[in-house]
Amino acid sequence: MTVWLTGLSGAGKSTLAFELERQLMSEGRACYVLDGDSVRHGLTSDLGFSAEDRHENIRRVAHVAQLMNDAGLIVIVALISPMREDRAMAREIIGHDKFIEVYVAASVNDCERRDPKGLYAKARSGAIPSFTGVSAPYEPPVDPDLTVDTTALSKASGVARIFDYLQDRYLSAP
Ligand code: ADX
Repeated sequence: MTVWLTGLSGAGKSTLAFELERQLMSEGRACYVLDGDSVRHGLTSDLGFSAEDRHENIRRVAHVAQLMNDAGLIVIVALISPMREDRAMAREIIGHDKFIEVYVAASVNDCERRDPKGLYAKARSGAIPSFTGVSAPYEPPVDPDLTVDTTALSKASGVARIFDYLQDRYLSAP
């Protein structure tokens, strides 16, 4: 399966992804995180943040996730993936039965208050154009498989929610 985390920059996608990976690994499950900041260093380093480039970023990552799923890995994707249409494409590529959409929910205000990489400040000053939530759109999922509100839940509780969901539907023996 692929756990697809979508949400604003600074919402907590990577934090949840790597903690979920750690917990799954500790149970002997082979898994791998495809994180926006890391894939953009290689696999998609030729792409920027226009709507077309984000679409291509998501398309490539979805194909890699599908291949990794085929190889037997649990894949955890952490991409802003701001547009519903692009997430629907990812679901098509990965397969409806394998794609779990998790909305990592935090408002622009909350993410901006955290601003762990200082990017919101730069976006507000105009130094980063087309910044999601500031000068580029984010479309929240209409009917996600799961919502994790990181303003209300701790990291441990957020990961537990995803873990329990996977356990109930995918990991427990039939
Ligand atoms: S996506 O929109 O194509 O899914 P992705 O998750 O790969 O985005 O990359 C997001 C990361 O790129 C952010 O966490 C941030 O560190 C960085 N970044 C740089 N420029 C932008 C921008 N204009 N909009 C959003 N994120 C940006």
